[in-house]
Amino acid sequence: MMFPMNPAALLFDEWAAAGRDESMARGHWPMVSQILGRMQLAPGLACLDVGCGNGYAVREMARRVAPKGWAYGVDVAPRMIEQACQNPQNPVNSQFQVSQAECLPFADESMDRLLSVEALYYMPDPLMALAEFYRVARPGATVWLMVDFYQENPYSHCWADLVEIPMHLYAQQEYMALMTQAGFHSVQVDRVLNPTPLTPEEQANFKPGWGYERWQDVVDFRTRIGSLLVWGQK
Ligand SMILES: C[S@@+](CC[C@H](N)C(=O)[O-])C[C@H]1O[C@@H](n2cnc3c(N)ncnc32)[C@H](O)[C@@H]1O
Repeated sequence: MMFPMNPAALLFDEWAAAGRDESMARGHWPMVSQILGRMQLAPGLACLDVGCGNGYAVREMARRVAPKGWAYGVDVAPRMIEQACQNPQNPVNSQFQVSQAECLPFADESMDRLLSVEALYYMPDPLMALAEFYRVARPGATVWLMVDFYQENPYSHCWADLVEIPMHLYAQQEYMALMTQAGFHSVQVDRVLNPTPLTPEEQANFKPGWGYERWQDVVDFRTRIGSLLVWGQK
């Protein structure tokens, strides 16, 4: 299937060139490490991270499903995949490909676990992407979505004006409805907080931006609002 040029590919190529793949990975890891812990990753499973950025989560999934399992990462931005492929820590059972979420290069019912971190709301048609997740998921597979840009996180609302590509601002109920529409059952939501203690240095260096006008906003996001986690099963 042919798709028109995805604006996210251009934007995230620039972000990768500027080294922002690494800062995103560092910033997301405190939540993603908790999510990986909940995914019941076990040797032999096949896992996929859609919108994988520089592949940090793929590398960890690969370690957990070794020796016979595989972890795959796809991203629409070629420079993100370049960064992912060049990482010297890539386990032998990890693989990366440039691909759109809406047209995944995997067979029907080939994946046991799917993950997507801070990516779904950039996709032109999130329901179409989730239907594609459903197609590649094996019966019994689970899919795990993490987003920070969502209705119940007021600090994120301005991101749509700051990022130069269209973004979907959904509420948590809407994420659950999309997952159900795509075919998943037992859909649940949770919030994942960043457990890293905030330091006096960070407070001293705080500069308003990205929706956080005051230091207290950062504290509120980190200790009360958190990242939205949505998961369900095929
Ligand atoms: C905010 S970054 C997050 C990257 C990574 N998941 C992380 O946690 O650091 C969003 C990623 O989703 C990718 N992306 C956006 N739309 C996509 C699509 N339609 N198909 C595949 N990847 C997409 C972008 O290229 C980008 O690398």
